[in-house]
Amino acid sequence: MLTIPLIQIGFGGVGRAVVERVLDARDEFEWRMGLEFEYVALCDSAGAVIDQNGLSPGTLRRLLEHKRQGRSLAESEVGYRHEGLLDIVDLAGSPEAIVIDVTASDDTVPALQLALDRGYAVVLANKKPLAGPIEVFREFTGSGRLRYEATVGAGVPVIATLQEALLASHDTVHHIEGCFSGTLGYLTTGLEQGVAFSQLVGQAHAMGYTEPDPRDDLGGMDVARKALILGRTLGWPLELEHVEVEPLYPAELGEGSVEDFMNAIETLDESYRQRVQAAREQGSVLRYVASLQGSEARVGLQTVPQDSPLGRLQGTDNLITFHTEVYNETPLVLQGRGAGVHGTAAGVVADIVALARCRK
Ligand SMILES: NC(=O)c1ccc[n+]([C@@H]2O[C@H](COP(=O)([O-])OP(=O)(O)OC[C@H]3O[C@@H](n4cnc5c(N)ncnc54)[C@H](OP(=O)(O)O)[C@@H]3O)[C@@H](O)[C@H]2O)c1
Repeated sequence: MLTIPLIQIGFGGVGRAVVERVLDARDEFEWRMGLEFEYVALCDSAGAVIDQNGLSPGTLRRLLEHKRQGRSLAESEVGYRHEGLLDIVDLAGSPEAIVIDVTASDDTVPALQLALDRGYAVVLANKKPLAGPIEVFREFTGSGRLRYEATVGAGVPVIATLQEALLASHDTVHHIEGCFSGTLGYLTTGLEQGVAFSQLVGQAHAMGYTEPDPRDDLGGMDVARKALILGRTLGWPLELEHVEVEPLYPAELGEGSVEDFMNAIETLDESYRQRVQAAREQGSVLRYVASLQGSEARVGLQTVPQDSPLGRLQGTDNLITFHTEVYNETPLVLQGRGAGVHGTAAGVVADIVALARCRK
């Protein structure tokens, strides 16, 4: 039996789902793979819990409950207020350790760097460390000890397909197109059904499908980071500012409070209605698409044929099409649940297992 210590940075929706999944899979991973995972450190933005002998399943379940009640790990019985992530990696780490970043923060980069320098492995659901300067992307991914499946398409195995099926077989990727935002998928499906843009944004906001400020989704930057990660995985020397981004609202609505924004978006309804109508007259629909071709990436609203994989996509699912030398006339298509903590946690756990297997 190989025991792998886990250090997890972030204990929000995805972080809790990862811990639950690792706990639930304990017996199966032992008999099926001869692997035992043991949490040695867990932290949120303020607090940490560390035990080099491994946090027991009972302690982890109590911490899950504590955190679900909206309290910081710093306030838990076994927790303390941490003074930075470097100390946590330093204190809890060992050469076999895997560090899991399930935050949405840039601040984790130095701790991830330290972990990789020490020979630990790293799993990311957090896109930001791979969407900063390209040198960091190259250094991190070049280590061979970092996996990042959940950064694009949540649990849909987009990165594994690209790396382990296409690039590893010396296939040539000509063109990638995908819908990578459940929120924007919800909006474009609703527009197609004739619902007003402002009403859709209001509903998505009320149901918690958007960030607290919907402009964070509608601005397209989250999709742009995913396109950047895909382009870099293809080997393209892209920076975030090279990705052409079409936001779904004009620059003047970028100022002001969320309330101001929500009150002003009715002014966009008519232009979206006209765009949907113009697309329909050509047998097409609007989708918010990330498109990569010829070393360039762009994200924005595109008119796609109704009878195409992207055109048939409905609701919050994610979809990616790879047009390659091998998958030429018919592209390779992956589709599935693209948002939600459980799908994302599944992608993270699959990466943890893949890295652990390399250590056997
Ligand atoms: N939710 C999804 O469906 C989904 C899908 C695909 C990818 N992702 C990605 O997965 C990541 C996590 O998403 P989420 O929905 O779980 O977010 P979340 O609920 O906001 O959780 C983020 C966690 O990170 C912690 N954190 C923030 N800054 C930190 C720092 N500097 N040091 C240590 N901990 C820090 C937060 O601490 P506090 O608890 O103290 O605030 C929180 O526990 C994000 O990068 C997101 O883009 C999410």
